[in-house]
Amino acid sequence: MASHKFLLLSLVLLSFNHLFCYSKLDEDSTLGYLDDISSYDMTAYPSYYAVHGERGTIAYQPNRFVLERVARVAGFGYSQKVVNVEDHGAKGDGTTDDTEAFEMAWKEACSSSTSAVLMVPENKNYLLKPITFSGPCKSDVSVMIKGTIEASSDRSDWNGKNGRHWILFSGIQNLYVGGRGNVNGNGKIWWQNSCKINKSLPCKDAPTALTFYSCDKLTVENLNIKDSQQIHVSFERSTNVDVSSLTITAPESSPNTDGIHVTETKNIQITNCVIGTGDDCISIESGSQNLKATNIVCGPGHGISIGSLGDHGSEAQVSDVIVDTAQLKGTTNGARIKTWQGGRGYAKNIVFQNFVMHDVKNPIIIDQNYCDSKTQCKQQTSAVEVSNVMYKNFKGTSASEVAIKFDCSTNVPCHGIILQDIDLAGGDGDATTSLCNHVNWTKKGNVIPLPCAK
Ligand SMILES: *[C@@H]1O[C@H](CO)[C@@H](O)[C@H](O)[C@H]1NC(C)=O
Ligand SMILES: *[C@@H]1O[C@H](CO)[C@@H](O)[C@H](O)[C@H]1NC(C)=O
Repeated sequence: MASHKFLLLSLVLLSFNHLFCYSKLDEDSTLGYLDDISSYDMTAYPSYYAVHGERGTIAYQPNRFVLERVARVAGFGYSQKVVNVEDHGAKGDGTTDDTEAFEMAWKEACSSSTSAVLMVPENKNYLLKPITFSGPCKSDVSVMIKGTIEASSDRSDWNGKNGRHWILFSGIQNLYVGGRGNVNGNGKIWWQNSCKINKSLPCKDAPTALTFYSCDKLTVENLNIKDSQQIHVSFERSTNVDVSSLTITAPESSPNTDGIHVTETKNIQITNCVIGTGDDCISIESGSQNLKATNIVCGPGHGISIGSLGDHGSEAQVSDVIVDTAQLKGTTNGARIKTWQGGRGYAKNIVFQNFVMHDVKNPIIIDQNYCDSKTQCKQQTSAVEVSNVMYKNFKGTSASEVAIKFDCSTNVPCHGIILQDIDLAGGDGDATTSLCNHVNWTKKGNVIPLPCAK
């Protein structure tokens, strides 16, 4: 009972802390951001600022569910049911397969008539094969990972299963996942068998460590996630998502190990994350709308990317994205938008601001000739339209001479591109340059390097 009370207290504190962060963010940075915007010359800015009035709709609306969660935990805490995976036989010794115990514990938590906590105790190492936690649940569920969850290193455990997932949360409302514990994808064996590492092997998918599919009102916070088989954390077809304080690490050489991947997801906020992997720190793919990422530390890796969009002639839609306050160190890209030739749709209303770069190869890049394929991509006429993109307050060093690169589509030029207060020198203070193909840009303040002549 004492430990139950302690748990309750920690949950309440955790949630209030969370609320505090929220209001702080809301009042300080979001409003600060808006004040900043309203002092701008609107006519010089992407049309959506003007269209929606000076308060702008791009501002992130804090999700009501955070308040609801606090109320829920504070008010109904005593009736919360704690389901410990060890009550269902999990060993946590690092060698026993604990998959079945976790499945049974989930079943109990998800069917509880009062809100439930699925507890993964600390100082233990639970080995899991691919596993799915499905909703809908009868009440709200929190998954508290205090110890370590580690993936099976036997690839045959994925035989006959969906090879794209290790841990999948699907169709759940009001889910909370946190606990300050560790998630280890144990991905080495998958990396060795990747066609990117061993060119003689066929290209196959590897699992994503944590996938959240079709979830609404989701909070994921305070976790260390490492060495995923492929993508570390993926948000798919979800709404109202709050992600914070994740540390994500994998070797720089590990293939396709994106940190946070977002696709077909609306209203998502990502804050205070430290990410260093072998691919994009954050990749924002088609169907992402109203995304705000703040306080991101990235590197090594491929930077913060929108895309790739429009592969195989597909239609992509990405809009209302703000990436505010990012530090990138030793990455191949800084703020990147990448699209394949032959696609359709758009990437628009995008703000990258307050970026500090250390030794980044392509600090600012739009690449509409992206081709991540074994065979050469052929010339095509259609393209995903890139418009209303603002880069504001960028400082630091470029590891290559070309610090600003806009390589846009011949037929669908980039437009509404704004560069403001940019200072990107070479590593030893060397001069840097810009490259512009088919781009309509505007400059405000000082921009170094100077954008190409029009
Ligand atoms: C690459 O894969 C081939 C085919 O499975 C294998 O024979 C070879 O040893 C692998 N190379 C390395 C460096 O692992
Ligand atoms: C650039 O944008 C302005 C304003 O939208 C437009 O008038 C002009 O025609 C555009 N120029 C090119 C080369 O697209």
